[in-house]
Amino acid sequence: MQTFWNQLPPAFYVLAPMEGVTDNVFRSVVSRAAAPDVYFTEFVNAASFCSPKGIHSTRGRLALSDTKDERTTPVVAQIWGTKPEQFAQMGKALAEMGYDGIDINMGCPVKDVIKTGACSALINTPDLAGELIAAAKESGLPVSVKTRIGFKEPAIEQWIGFLLQQDLAALTVHARTQREMSKVPAHYEAFSVVTELRDHLAPTTLIIGNGDILDRTQGDALMREHNLDGAMIGRGVFSDPYCFEKLPQPHDRSALIELLRYHLDVFDLAASEMPRKFDPLKRFFKIYIREFDGASELRDKLMHTRTTAEARAILTE
Ligand SMILES: Cc1cc2nc3c(=O)[nH]c(=O)nc-3n(C[C@H](O)[C@H](O)[C@H](O)COP(=O)(O)O)c2cc1C
Repeated sequence: MQTFWNQLPPAFYVLAPMEGVTDNVFRSVVSRAAAPDVYFTEFVNAASFCSPKGIHSTRGRLALSDTKDERTTPVVAQIWGTKPEQFAQMGKALAEMGYDGIDINMGCPVKDVIKTGACSALINTPDLAGELIAAAKESGLPVSVKTRIGFKEPAIEQWIGFLLQQDLAALTVHARTQREMSKVPAHYEAFSVVTELRDHLAPTTLIIGNGDILDRTQGDALMREHNLDGAMIGRGVFSDPYCFEKLPQPHDRSALIELLRYHLDVFDLAASEMPRKFDPLKRFFKIYIREFDGASELRDKLMHTRTTAEARAILTE
């Protein structure tokens, strides 16, 4: 099946799915700074989506903005759960909503999530993982998986080998086990083992490396060394919102403040279509307001604001 995945440039970049972060507002901001080649949404629970009120409880997470910035880049909806019938139902709805692809979360290590049998717990139940993939494919959208290299211990041959036999469009490998959470450095040597396995089992499945990648310099080197097709950056965007820039440029304080203003504007636009709380927006302020004289005082003032208008007034001051 020809999809956007086959049209990506060599050595492409993906913004990682991040709960509470990568909604349509933040994706628009990243696009304004320097767009990656693919976006993933935050993970969205299939059981909630398929519940009677689900459309309402998950619509904030699944909103696609009309801002030109965001929609010129493919957006993949990331879903999680344990029920194939819900994946089938949700997948079809996502196709109708205009998503470009579906990614299944098989990597989240959080206890409350894995005790339901979902996400990285699926590493221990490959049969169910296979059923979920098959159900998501009923949508007609390209299906990818994001996972880790094992549960308690690395299990690349068994687990990644199994996934590579599921005819996936792409597979993102976060180079840590579930047990390691994010507490140890990513095991980059695992990437070469994965890509060799891919060459044998599934030459058309794209492999995306993930874990501690901060920018294109590091990502390009890793892709070359391990024969990866793409690199996924998550937390790197917090330390540098311009991390996807092809030719890195210096960005001064006024550029960062301008980007924060844009964030506030896009937030207001999204909130006018669907009410959103202001407080969660504050966690983003430190992305823009740091490492310049007076940054901590300015950030402190911004943390005491209650509306975007108040935040703008502080920036104007
Ligand atoms: C705040 C936050 C939220 C996250 N939410 C998700 C999520 O919804 N789905 C997912 O697959 N991974 C999630 N992750 C994991 C990231 O996608 C990524 O795999 C991890 O941060 C390692 O990449 P990095 O070192 O580039 O950040 C989250 C990570 C962070 C820091």
